[in-house]
Amino acid sequence: MDKLIINGGKKLKGEVSVSGSKNAALPIFVATILAGGKFEISNVPFLRDINTTIKVLESLGATIEGNGNIVKIDTTNVNNVEATYDLVKTMRASVLVLGPLLARHGRARVSLPGGCAIGARPIDQHLKGLKALGAEIRLEHGYVEATAKQLKGARINFDVPTVGGTEHLMMTAALAKGVTLLENAAREPEIVDLANMLNLMGAKIEGAGTDNIRIEGVEKLSAIDYRVMPDRIEAGTFMIAAAITGGDIKISNMQLEHLDALVFKMQDAGVEIINKDGFVRVKGPKKLKSINIKTRPYPGFPTDMQAQFMALMCLADGASVVAENIFENRFMHVSELLRFGADIMIDGRSATVKGVKKLSGAPVMATDLRASASLILAGLAAEGTTEITRIYHLDRGYESIEKKLAALGADIVRVKE
Ligand code: UD1
Repeated sequence: MDKLIINGGKKLKGEVSVSGSKNAALPIFVATILAGGKFEISNVPFLRDINTTIKVLESLGATIEGNGNIVKIDTTNVNNVEATYDLVKTMRASVLVLGPLLARHGRARVSLPGGCAIGARPIDQHLKGLKALGAEIRLEHGYVEATAKQLKGARINFDVPTVGGTEHLMMTAALAKGVTLLENAAREPEIVDLANMLNLMGAKIEGAGTDNIRIEGVEKLSAIDYRVMPDRIEAGTFMIAAAITGGDIKISNMQLEHLDALVFKMQDAGVEIINKDGFVRVKGPKKLKSINIKTRPYPGFPTDMQAQFMALMCLADGASVVAENIFENRFMHVSELLRFGADIMIDGRSATVKGVKKLSGAPVMATDLRASASLILAGLAAEGTTEITRIYHLDRGYESIEKKLAALGADIVRVKE
């Protein structure tokens, strides 16, 4: 198993380019099974979650070829309608194949994803939506079995705005008969990227990016070429890397407007952010100010940036309250941040972070994807050496992060244990 060794204290300088979005690429790959044909998807990040999605699609009968960041997907022979536990358990997003398989073949059998490190994460809203579209759903032997002769448009009101649920039902409803209305839908930019792709394929979707999405079903969709949007969470992580090290970096291939909530909070903390000439320049202040955050569905503060922002607040002047409203168990990085000498108290879904003068490098363990990123950030700012184990979590969602940080002047290497 690999680990990362960081010698902290280097101010980051230079330029870095953001990779394609993991969370956009996953549903975009799944959407290819709605049409039989040859797709070319570009700006695809090299990540373990992408490999898992490729394995899922191959297990369904797709043929896939990768060349750099371009992936060719041929879905002509997608005839298998079952996604097994082995594949779904390693990546929850695999469950998104259920509706598209059902829409194309009239039946599907997909393993229930089960728990994950950051909480129970049910799929009740996905299933409620599929039922409203006319699917018969049975839960048997750990699998969801769905059948439908003809899916029909329906009005679906989500109990909570769910990113995966909105994507799942948007894809499925694209091939249902009649009009579907998704109310209280999630508004994340990745949903807009997926809707843009589906519309290019011939779907009729309006309102993606708002909480009311209207989908007029069509009989058939066609294969197309599509470029995945940049990864806003990777971009946000680099912004914090600059801020926490007191560095000055330029970030390219990012869309700053996707990160408004983070940008406002970072500016309030004293970080300088300049969007000019195709770059976002981020300059860390001499002293950071403490700022409170509450995670919310988009356009609120992203839960996927909570751990990284908390690392930043560990070095701010004063106390800040970090409230996690999306997932119930997303403070696992706290006990690891304490090992750097941070001062954090958890009370239910809030954590109070009292800024300390310095962090000191320590051996720590990554527990989930974004927690791993927060440990890297703390390690970059800490005095001395940090060793991060279990970094396979990181490889699920950050493309070559240690290489990109090293190119910015960080002293960080990956070693085999
Ligand atoms: C997606 C992102 C993940 C991000 C999360 C929230 C992908 C691949 N992953 O995950 O990085 O952290 O959005 O921004 O895009 N819920 C239910 N019932 C459901 C579905 C969800 O109660 O059927 C709850 C969840 O437990 C959670 C909340 O809704 O509390 C939001 O979850 P959701 O938006 O669905 O997250 P994902 O799509 O799984």
